[in-house]
This record gives sequence, C-alpha cells and structure tokens, in this order.
Amino acid sequence: MTSTPTDPANADFLALEEIHAAALRALPAEVAGYLESGAGTEQTLRANREAFTRWVIRPRPMSGVTAPDTSTQVLGIPLSLPVLTAPFGGDGLFAPDGHLAVARANAACGTASIVPEVGTFSYAEVAAAAPAAARIGQLHPYESFDSVAKRIRAAGYTALCVTVDCPVMGFRVRSRMSRFRPDPVVWSGNVVHDGTPNITETYGNRIVQSWTWDRLAEAAARQDLPWIAKGILTSEAAEQAIGAGASAILVSNHGGRQVDPAAASLDVLPGIAETVAGRVP
Ligand SMILES: Cc1cc2nc3c(=O)[nH]c(=O)nc-3n(C[C@H](O)[C@H](O)[C@H](O)COP(=O)(O)O)c2cc1C
Repeated sequence: MTSTPTDPANADFLALEEIHAAALRALPAEVAGYLESGAGTEQTLRANREAFTRWVIRPRPMSGVTAPDTSTQVLGIPLSLPVLTAPFGGDGLFAPDGHLAVARANAACGTASIVPEVGTFSYAEVAAAAPAAARIGQLHPYESFDSVAKRIRAAGYTALCVTVDCPVMGFRVRSRMSRFRPDPVVWSGNVVHDGTPNITETYGNRIVQSWTWDRLAEAAARQDLPWIAKGILTSEAAEQAIGAGASAILVSNHGGRQVDPAAASLDVLPGIAETVAGRVP
C-alpha cells in the first residue's frame, strides 16, 4: 500500500500534488484560506487555472537535442531555468523559515527569489541565507519607496520589483469569513521606523497607495537599479510602465487576489508580449 507523506519537513515528496496536500493538512484552516483564496467571487483565481487547460505544448520531434539547456537570464540575473519565485508576504505563517527556505531552495536550483516587502524576514536576512538567490527586492509605490529601495540595494539585490496592482488589499471573502488577523509580526520583516510611513502599518482595506506612473518614474529614476513593473494585465499599462522606465514587465493578476473579475494572466500574456515587442523582458 502506498501512503502520502504526512510530515512536510521530512517528507520525500515525488509530486507537487503531494506537497499541496501535505501543506493543507499542516496549516491551520484560516492560514490555508489566506494562502489559497482570491478576491471577490474568485472568478479571476479560477480563470488563471482554467487558462492553463487551454494552452498546450507544441512538440517538435526529432530535434536532435541531446542536452537540453533551459538556462537564461533576466536583468542580468543568470537562471538555470526560466522561473523566479513570486514575492508572497506573511511567509512565516506557512513555515518557520519562510523566504529564507525559498531562497535556499532557489539557490540550490540555480534560480532566484523576488523577496517581498511585507515578508516575515528582512531583505538582508534573506540575502544572508542565500546571497546567490536574493537578487530582486519587491516593494510598493508608497511613501517609504526611497528608503526601502536603498535598503534593498544595501542588502546586495540587483533589481527592484514594484507591485503596481495593490492600491488596496483585495476583498478576500474567505479571509474575512475566517476573521483572519495574524500577528502583524509576519508582515514586518522590513518595517523600519525612520519617520517615513511604511506600507505594513497601513496594510489592510484602506487606500495604501495612490501614486501615478509619473510619480513612480521619478522615484525609480532616483534609484540606480533596473525595476520590474509587477501586475500588468493590459497593453496600455505595459506601454505606461515602459514609458515610466520599467526594465521589465511582469504580467500578473496577483494570483486572482486583487481585481475580480479580471483576465487570466496567461490569456493576456501573448497580446502584451506583442505590444512590448521585445523592448523589455
Ligand atoms: C499568500 C500570498 C501572498 C502574496 N503576497 C504578495 C505580496 O506581498 N506582494 C506581491 O507583489 N504579490 C504577492 N502575492 C502575489 C504573488 O506574487 C503572485 O503574483 C501570485 O502568486 C500569482 O502568480 P503570478 O503573478 O506568477 O501569476 C501573494 C500571493 C500569495 C498566494
């Protein structure tokens, strides 16, 4: 008889499904709800998954390749495969090591992390855990942008990722229904009280960011780092991001956690790629 692993820390996982099932068994229900839920009626969340059932791989048989090479680079960061891990806040809710563990795993795989501002650990702590993987620091277009960006750079990161699709927290019904209010320490890894209002203190359902592309362009130009615009779903927004000086576009609907209903990220990717036409990755 076969069994699925029950102790996530020591399990010998063979498939993603086993990891998912073990995580759901290990996490308190309200934490699993926060991890898995989308905004509103979760139409966007479902659309993301459904889109992957409509796109297929087009095999090219008899190519003669004996040693496939999936390596690439983005913004000067070498990657063994074209995958970066997304920034997700509150990581200490899911595992004590949170993004420290994610970064170590990325380093072992030869890829890189986008490390979140509202994470449990500071940019510097994640960088100390796995310097090779801690390459991109995510932050919000908010009052503290300059000081946060400086800390990202001081910790050795080589690019910024600015989340532009989170002016307010999405309306997450599952989290509301479970009265999900974790200890704020899980978001506070990068909180520094230097007199500038920081995002963690206002995270919630209030307006937290009201910047325009012009304001972001000015703020980003003051930093000497390439930056990714994260949360682009239309060709117009991609043009605006490039106009504001973005070095890369991250086509994303935030995993369906912000606008509902919105287009599936995968469905809008080809049109946006056509508009961007290789000007930026
Ligand atoms: C639990 C959780 C927390 C997240 N926190 C953040 C965050 O703090 N900042 C951010 O930009 N995105 C956050 N995201 C969104 C992810 O970065 C990512 O956009 C999402 O998982 C969908 O992946 P995709 O963008 O590759 O489509 C979070 C996602 C999850 C599931």
